[in-house]
Amino acid sequence: MSFSHKHILGTRHLSPQDITLILDTAESFKEINARAIKKVPTLRGKTVVNLFYEASTRTRTSFEIAEKRLSADAVNIAASSSSVVKGETLEDTAKNIEAMRPDIIVIRHFASGAADYLAKRLDCSIINAGDGAHEHPSQALLDLFTMRQHKGRIAGLTVTIVGDITHSRVARSNLFALHSMGAEVRLAGPGTMIPPGIEKFGCKVFTAMDEALAGADVVMMLRIQLERQGRSLLPSLREYARFYGLNRDKLKLAREDVLVMHPGPMNRGVEIASDVADGERNVILEQVENGVAVRMALLYLVSGPAPENP
Ligand code: CP
Repeated sequence: MSFSHKHILGTRHLSPQDITLILDTAESFKEINARAIKKVPTLRGKTVVNLFYEASTRTRTSFEIAEKRLSADAVNIAASSSSVVKGETLEDTAKNIEAMRPDIIVIRHFASGAADYLAKRLDCSIINAGDGAHEHPSQALLDLFTMRQHKGRIAGLTVTIVGDITHSRVARSNLFALHSMGAEVRLAGPGTMIPPGIEKFGCKVFTAMDEALAGADVVMMLRIQLERQGRSLLPSLREYARFYGLNRDKLKLAREDVLVMHPGPMNRGVEIASDVADGERNVILEQVENGVAVRMALLYLVSGPAPENP
């Protein structure tokens, strides 16, 4: 099966066949990460620029590790130490980087649509590493990879996502990918944090956490994104933790073999109690580990077949 996408801008337009190919490809790359020598020549001669306008620990590091394990030349640019601070626009910055002929730009930006904007203006491949409150496709794909690894399937799973849905690019990318793959998606949180009309994308909405958790196969907790909220959408973090924080008692409502997931960074004691975050049902660090293999798969697939006469 071939992959027809030049860019990875979101999961919304990925077909179930695309998602399955990405997960299967990541499966073959995961083995490389367990070797003593974790390097293959697959992307030798390719140049990847990681252009980050927002802070990141997991995404930036795992893209860079993925690039290096595939033997690509990886270049990191943090907007805070670039000419962006002198007033250069996103388009000018990206076009100047493209003049140096990278093959792929991985971009994280605070504006929704930034990755699409570059894909329309540049010739190289663009991978969205998170754009505003819009999408974070590589995160959702590593989440599905982790679910499939544990449950053997995505179709038919009940996945409950709890938190600040309105500002969560992780929730949106997971919703599109999970729905496309046949999972039941439940979104839960205070009414002020759930976008009106989101049900049309194929999910169920809950404001009562207990109902959302009942019988869930997977519970994904999200951080309150205070940096994206123009005004406070909740009375206090203590009250939020009481109604929407995941603790051991609430977790008993889900299936006994539930997976507890979190994209990170976590706010322990707010959306998730420490004993649940570190408890026997959590797969949070497995998500991070799988992120390298999934990002290797994305870099490989957008690069297309190797030229016959390099
Ligand atoms: N999950 C995630 O995007 O984490 P970072 O912000 O650390 O990259």
